[in-house]
Amino acid sequence: MTPHKDEVFNFFEDPNKDMKIVMVTGGAGFIGSNFIKYMLGKYPDCKVINFDKLTYAGNLENLISVEGDVANALDIKNVFEQFNPDYVVHFAAESHVDRSIVNPDIFLTSNIIGTQILLNQSRENKVKKFVQISTDEVYGSLPTGIASKEDDKLNPNNPYAASKASADLLIRVAHQTFKQPVNIIRACNNYGPFQFPEKLIPLMIVNSLLNEELPLYGDGQNIREWLHVNDHCKAIDLVLHKGIPGETYNVGTGDNWENLKLVEHLLQKFPESKSHIQFVLDRQGHDFRYALDSSKIQNELGWKPEVKFEDGLQETIEWYVNHQEWIEDIRTGNYLKYYDTNYAERMMEIS
Ligand code: NAD
Ligand code: TYD
Repeated sequence: MTPHKDEVFNFFEDPNKDMKIVMVTGGAGFIGSNFIKYMLGKYPDCKVINFDKLTYAGNLENLISVEGDVANALDIKNVFEQFNPDYVVHFAAESHVDRSIVNPDIFLTSNIIGTQILLNQSRENKVKKFVQISTDEVYGSLPTGIASKEDDKLNPNNPYAASKASADLLIRVAHQTFKQPVNIIRACNNYGPFQFPEKLIPLMIVNSLLNEELPLYGDGQNIREWLHVNDHCKAIDLVLHKGIPGETYNVGTGDNWENLKLVEHLLQKFPESKSHIQFVLDRQGHDFRYALDSSKIQNELGWKPEVKFEDGLQETIEWYVNHQEWIEDIRTGNYLKYYDTNYAERMMEIS
């Protein structure tokens, strides 16, 4: 995208306003909730509006939670009318590949329509910066030895990835056609506290704690790159401040792990556990490998990952060990139904 350098600013240095209003969508989820905590900790003078279809359990003075659907234009209009945010960081999305394979439609509604509605309203309200939280999955699967750069072709292979790639194109259009000050951040797989145990790392930690099987898809040789959520939050903060409008930034670490090696490594951290790795039916269209070239954000904005994978993993395990009530609260109703559908069938078909 062509940068509009005149649009560069540093919002915390804006002398015209005392308290900046940052609207975070999807702040009841994993990365969004960590980002809210990070922002309120770092900038006591900023006010955060969390817009999510789920209730958020935070209870802080400078945080307001609004329940609503990003794909509902009236919900969005109302929240903008009430708070007139200066900045929007858009996390809200259906986020799990396996669920997108079973039910793609809701991914298109939330992730594509929702993004357009938010862009429309942001344009009307003259939002100063809109940051789209995208993903490495939009580049599709890579062979060993290659890393995706920001200008590489979008090549999604599952409904989730296609919905995120579509949203990225709408963000591009908002800049090219309407000169909206936008950025896209494409991060690799995140891990850390508060991640729902349907994604690889928290699922394997929780199952190890509960002595349940550790279901590995296919031959377990797929490769993912891992980023601690706090390092992602720092990158988002930097791009919100200093990202050149219209630009996209990859955020990765180079910590690439084969799933089998990662799960074996994790299991060693639970010497008491009776869990075993169980190979199960592969995910349909399972991408072999994602890997990002993150030199742009490193060279242009000075970001670099600070959490060593080994330390971050250990700290994440400890968080789950110390939050068993949170796990119990989550492993009810809908989650158990999803778990049964996703895993019972996979395990049956392989045996
Ligand atoms: P998450 O599922 O934990 O959180 C998503 C949040 O969005 C949830 O709180 C959910 O209620 C909310 N949401 C979904 N649809 C909504 C709608 N229609 N209206 C309002 N709220 C809605 O996911 P996450 O892992 O925190 O991911 C957040 C963002 O980061 C997503 O956009 C995802 O694509 C992106 N991302 C995630 C990762 C990762 O490894 N988790 C990596 C790169 C990018
Ligand atoms: P996931 O956490 O779903 O993230 P993504 O698909 O977005 O990368 O999965 C990470 C990797 O782990 C992916 O290759 C699929 C694999 N996986 C399993 O082998 N078993 C599981 O139970 C899950 C959830 C994932």
